[in-house]
Amino acid sequence: MQQFPRVWNTTLCVFRLRVLRHLGYIFLMKRHGQSGRVVIDVQPELKRRLYASLSLSGSTLKDWFIRAAEELCDGTDKGVLSRPVKYAKTTLGNATALRVREDSSRERVGVRSLREPIGHSATDYSVVSMFSGCGGMDLGFRGGFEVFGRYYHPLPFRVVWANDYNHEACKTYQRNLGHGIRWGDVWDLIATMPERTDVVIGGFPCQDISVNGKRAGVNGSRSGLYRAMIEGIKRVRPKVFVAENVKALLKHERWLQQVVSDFSTLGYVLHYQLYQAADFGVPQTRERVFFVGTAPGAEPFVPPRPERSAATWMTAREAISDLEKLGRTGSINHIWSEAKRSPEQGNRNLVADRPGYTIRAECHGNIQFHYLYPRRISMREAARIQSFPDDFVFVSGIREIERQVGNAVPPILAWHVANSVLASLR
Ligand SMILES: C[S@@+](CC[C@H](N)C(=O)[O-])C[C@H]1O[C@@H](n2cnc3c(N)ncnc32)[C@H](O)[C@@H]1O
Repeated sequence: MQQFPRVWNTTLCVFRLRVLRHLGYIFLMKRHGQSGRVVIDVQPELKRRLYASLSLSGSTLKDWFIRAAEELCDGTDKGVLSRPVKYAKTTLGNATALRVREDSSRERVGVRSLREPIGHSATDYSVVSMFSGCGGMDLGFRGGFEVFGRYYHPLPFRVVWANDYNHEACKTYQRNLGHGIRWGDVWDLIATMPERTDVVIGGFPCQDISVNGKRAGVNGSRSGLYRAMIEGIKRVRPKVFVAENVKALLKHERWLQQVVSDFSTLGYVLHYQLYQAADFGVPQTRERVFFVGTAPGAEPFVPPRPERSAATWMTAREAISDLEKLGRTGSINHIWSEAKRSPEQGNRNLVADRPGYTIRAECHGNIQFHYLYPRRISMREAARIQSFPDDFVFVSGIREIERQVGNAVPPILAWHVANSVLASLR
């Protein structure tokens, strides 16, 4: 039997819930003067499977619940809680979190919202965020969000400076990230960056490189903005920087060499790699390259390990089926473009049993169609396919939302990269 937690004083006041045939426990937890209650409830039909897997591992059901309760309080529910829990609630000190999870049949269980993370007070590493857009990458670095029934625990990064020149994106950013962002041209604002910071992140504009753009290359007026990133890095001398861009950059040897050499001359050890977002739990086959530079003295960057493969990629149906019967609902961005089918781009239908196609920023309403209905996908569905949590609300009109969602780094992918950055820093 597993020892009682080292840090948590889980009192033996453990009640089994027998109400409505559910299987659950209530724990009373105490630590550092904080105390509270944890309620964990598992659906009855999952109970048998849980027993079976536990008997193989040699631990008891009570051990399982204790570990789950600790994870919940620490905000690190990567292990136990990723197993089927129907309902978990913590009330600890002043913080309350409610998590409603998917069951194993992948049927959705209502609301998926999460308030303030529990137990993570450390905001150790300062971050300068360039080309922040609506904040997809920033959300991933911050962590503490729930999507597709999984909680992505908080990370010790704190954005101290953010910027974008799109006013609408700034509004969405501020609404969801809960702190300020500087609106304006990056070149005008570089001088306002702090003098030193731990990390610089940025997805420099890619329209000149993207296969859907005009392809002027890294010398184009917008992609040349990666030079602004170089200037920013020179100014704040971070321990690590992360720059994200489209896959097409890797296909053009000359552009790639230029970017690599410009970043390398800064004196950082450069690691770059193509990531398939679907491998990390994003229901979208989006490929993006990340350049990560580590300063001498930092541990070399080790990229995150994929959690899925093509056989287990999350499908469009898993991601959005609970929205199928919902009519237009502006408050949660469940609104869609009425653009007619055209012979050009954006006419594909989602395939229910596959991940979505890449969500693009400049599609002018020609976003992919629903797998079931004769309509284009809604902005909320697009946001799901980009792995934004449902409580991330976009505050603009439909074209701007389309741009913000399509431009974003999927928060789940950013979260995985951020974990690897953390390992380098530590
Ligand atoms: C690829 S998007 C970044 C998305 C962001 N990383 C995210 O995850 O949501 C690039 C952003 O650069 C911004 N941008 C383009 N030119 C800019 C400039 N001169 N100054 C500041 N921001 C600029 C665009 O408005 C756009 O939001």
